[in-house]
Amino acid sequence: MKNRRSQIIIGAIISVALIISIFVVFNYKNNQVSEKLDSGEPSTEQKSNDKQTAEEPKTPELPEEPEVKPDKNGYIPNQTLPTEPTYIDGILIANKRYPLPSTFAPKEDITARAALDTMLTAAKQQGFDLVAFSGYRSFERQTTLYNDYVKRDGADAADRYSARPGYSEHQTGLAFDIGEKGKENIWLTEEFGETPAGQWLLTHADEYGFILRFPQNKEHITGYMYESWHYRYVGTDIAKEIKKRDITLEEYLGVN
Ligand code: DAL
Ligand code: ZN
Repeated sequence: MKNRRSQIIIGAIISVALIISIFVVFNYKNNQVSEKLDSGEPSTEQKSNDKQTAEEPKTPELPEEPEVKPDKNGYIPNQTLPTEPTYIDGILIANKRYPLPSTFAPKEDITARAALDTMLTAAKQQGFDLVAFSGYRSFERQTTLYNDYVKRDGADAADRYSARPGYSEHQTGLAFDIGEKGKENIWLTEEFGETPAGQWLLTHADEYGFILRFPQNKEHITGYMYESWHYRYVGTDIAKEIKKRDITLEEYLGVN
């Protein structure tokens, strides 16, 4: 009888202990879930959901605008002339990539002309009789010149030494073709650059604000063959820097 009572009591204790254990374990699990939710940490379920989201393809990106490539002569095919000229850091640029409006007709730049005259006077004092035989050219004049060169040499050859209308630096009023008086036979030739007069100009032009615009071995940057005679006014600071660094205007402006 006593034994039977003890068995019942032990049984009851075990049952209560079991119930308490189940309760404790259940509570613990519940607490863990709510702690995770509080801390913002994703539950396992959420994690696997996120993974699915991450693997889902994103909204397809629009293809980049294809860069319009210049043709073999350096021009953008079918390019229309702009309505405004391009200034980069205050410097007017005219080349195969940056044309001018057909209506752009500033005439000769008076600052460039004054600097040219000072330079030619200095050259004369040192024994070199230089002359600017071509300066400002209108859009119409460049059209005639270019078309004549194309008739004579064909477009591919002309494009290496003559700008198409709208693309010439002569239309800016800041460029001059220079040669020596009495040596007209070597105007517009590489030979001029090898003469003492051509060498004087190459050495001193920067002091007057001019750069040799189309130097040797830079056709891939400037778009034109070496022109020992074509000088462009940019002001003394920039001219000196371009000469010192042995770069082109395109490189100086970062548009090469
Ligand atoms: N000769 C230069 C490139 C011009 O025509 O402007
Ligand atoms: Zn020129």
